[in-house]
Amino acid sequence: MLSPFPLGRPARMAVMASGRGTNLEALLEAFSPQNPWGEVVLVLSDNPEAYALKRASRRGVEAVAIPWRGRKAFEREALDLLRARGVDLVLLAGFMRLLSPGFVEPWYGRLLNIHPSLLPDYPGLHVHRRVLEAGERETGSTVHFVDQGMDTGPIVLQGRVPVLPGDTPETLERRVLFLEHRLYPRAVRLVLSGMAFPPGEGLKALLGEAWPRFQGLSPREKPLYLRAAVLLSVWGLGGHPALRQELSELPEEVRLKAEEVLRRVESSP
Ligand code: GRF
Repeated sequence: MLSPFPLGRPARMAVMASGRGTNLEALLEAFSPQNPWGEVVLVLSDNPEAYALKRASRRGVEAVAIPWRGRKAFEREALDLLRARGVDLVLLAGFMRLLSPGFVEPWYGRLLNIHPSLLPDYPGLHVHRRVLEAGERETGSTVHFVDQGMDTGPIVLQGRVPVLPGDTPETLERRVLFLEHRLYPRAVRLVLSGMAFPPGEGLKALLGEAWPRFQGLSPREKPLYLRAAVLLSVWGLGGHPALRQELSELPEEVRLKAEEVLRRVESSP
């Protein structure tokens, strides 16, 4: 199976955050109980002082601190809680710990992170300072599936903002955060609708001869290619207007490749 989504019912989501939680706030706002795609039902933190926990409580969402006493103990408790609450999708939002393979593997494809750079550029910490020092003219944010590396997994969606003359790490951070608060809910909707998924063995079988070409795409082209392929196969080029708009924004080269995949899929027995 390419993706466990769409589920056919509203998803139950957990957010893990270590600090102030502005991205959490945006997710709580977007995925309230009325949202047909899903609801944030649990907020987890490794830091009992995290403001994120207060934001959750204020909205009546269960907020749990699991104080950090080492990775093993934290992960065991967190995994038990996620299971007990019937969580379908976990969203890291300013969660400052690296998760072990024992956590990441069973959740692969159902665990997302947001990182304030155009990955694969600038993984890790102090991103805005490093972007300014390098003299970049553009930066952004990336939502990606979490794998075993640090800020490395397959990309779901990216957004871009300019770096302006006179920017400081603080002004840049504010511009990127503003973008993130729209980007993360959008990426979550793509995942919940089955439009974005990590390329795995199932995909290899589906793409057949197109697989090596797909592998040759850059990390930024891959999600566009996949999304275009799904869009094309589900809706066709003359489909739903909003989806058609999204498709028309894809780089021409990627769209053409996606059409090729579709033709292949359609002509396969
Ligand atoms: C965001 O910039 C996010 O990309 C990164 O940590 C920051 C968290 O900010 N992973 P907030 O706690 O959501 O305000």
